[in-house]
Amino acid sequence: MAEASARAHPNIALVKYWGKRDADLVLPVAGSLSLTLDEFPTTTTVRLDPAAAADSFTLGGVAQQGTQLSRVTEFLDVVRELADSDVRAAVTSISEIPTDAGLASSAAGFAALAAAAAAAYGLDLDQRALSRLARRGSGSATRSVIPGLAVWHAGDDEGSFAEAVDGPELRMVTVTLSRTPKAVSSREAMVRTARTSPFFPAWVTSTEETLQEALEACAQGDVDRLGHLTELHAHRMHAVIESCDPPIRYLSPTSLEVFDEVARMREAGRRCYATADAGANVVVLTTPEDAEHVAAELSVHGETRVVRPGPGVELISRTESA
Ligand code: PMV
Repeated sequence: MAEASARAHPNIALVKYWGKRDADLVLPVAGSLSLTLDEFPTTTTVRLDPAAAADSFTLGGVAQQGTQLSRVTEFLDVVRELADSDVRAAVTSISEIPTDAGLASSAAGFAALAAAAAAAYGLDLDQRALSRLARRGSGSATRSVIPGLAVWHAGDDEGSFAEAVDGPELRMVTVTLSRTPKAVSSREAMVRTARTSPFFPAWVTSTEETLQEALEACAQGDVDRLGHLTELHAHRMHAVIESCDPPIRYLSPTSLEVFDEVARMREAGRRCYATADAGANVVVLTTPEDAEHVAAELSVHGETRVVRPGPGVELISRTESA
C-alpha cells in the first residue's frame, strides 16, 4: 500500500484573489500575489487503501464528515483521474494553525494534500503541475506550493499556476483578534460578490493593474510601494465584499483600530502596512528592522507574532509497502 506525507504553510495575499471565473477548475478572475509563511504548517499523510469503499479524512485526530470530507474526496477524485486509479485513501492531517489564528487553513491544507496525494498515487509532478493541482482544492493553495513571494497567474487550466517572485526582505506580523469562525465562507462570499456587487467589474480590472504594479515593486525591491499597494488592495477587497446584497462584513471595529494604528506608526517612520483576508484578523507587512516594534505596539489589540517568509510544499516521505 502506498503512503506519502507532505508539509505546507499558509500564505497571506498582498494582492488578493477574490472571485472565480470557473468554479470547477478554480480559475480566478484575476492574478494575485502572496507571501508563504514559515509558521503554522499543516502535515498530511495519504495512505491508499484498496479495501476501502470510501475515502476517510481525520483532522487533528477527529474523523471529519460533511463538507470537510466531501472537499477532500472531490479533490482526491481529481488526483485519481490523473493517476487513472479508483483506489480510495485514508487522509490524516495535523494543522499547527491555531484554530483561532484567523489564517486560512485551506491554503496549507490543500497544498500539503496535493503533494501527499500525488506521491501516494504515483504521479510525478513538477512544481508547476503541483501548483495547478493544489488550485483544484482551494484557490489560495495554488500559492502555498511556492516558497516566499508567489504570483498566481489567472490563465486557463494550463496557465493558472503560481511561481516564485524575487523581492525585498519582508516580515509579517499576525494580529489575532477574532476567535469566532467567519459567518460566510469565502467560497460562498465570492459567488455573492460576483453576482450582486455593482463594483465587481472594476474590482477585476483594477486587480490586474495592481498586480502589475506590485510585481514591479517586487522587482525594484521597493518595500514601501509594495506595502502601499498591499494595504490599498485589502481595502478594495473588503469594500467590494461589503457592497454585496445582502452585505458581508468581515472586518470588526477592532480590525479598523489596528489599521489606524498601523497608519499612525507609519506616520512616525515605521515601515508597516496592514491587510486582512476573509475574517477580522489583521496581518501587517513590514521589514526585518521594524517587525519586533510593530508586534509590540499592536499587542494591546490582540496576540501578535512575527513571521518570516517560509518554504514551499515539501514531500516528507513516500513508502510502498506490500
Ligand atoms: O482559497 P480560498 O477559497 O480560501 O480563498 C481565499 C481568499 C482570500 O484569502 C481572502 C484572499 C487570498 O488571495 O488568499
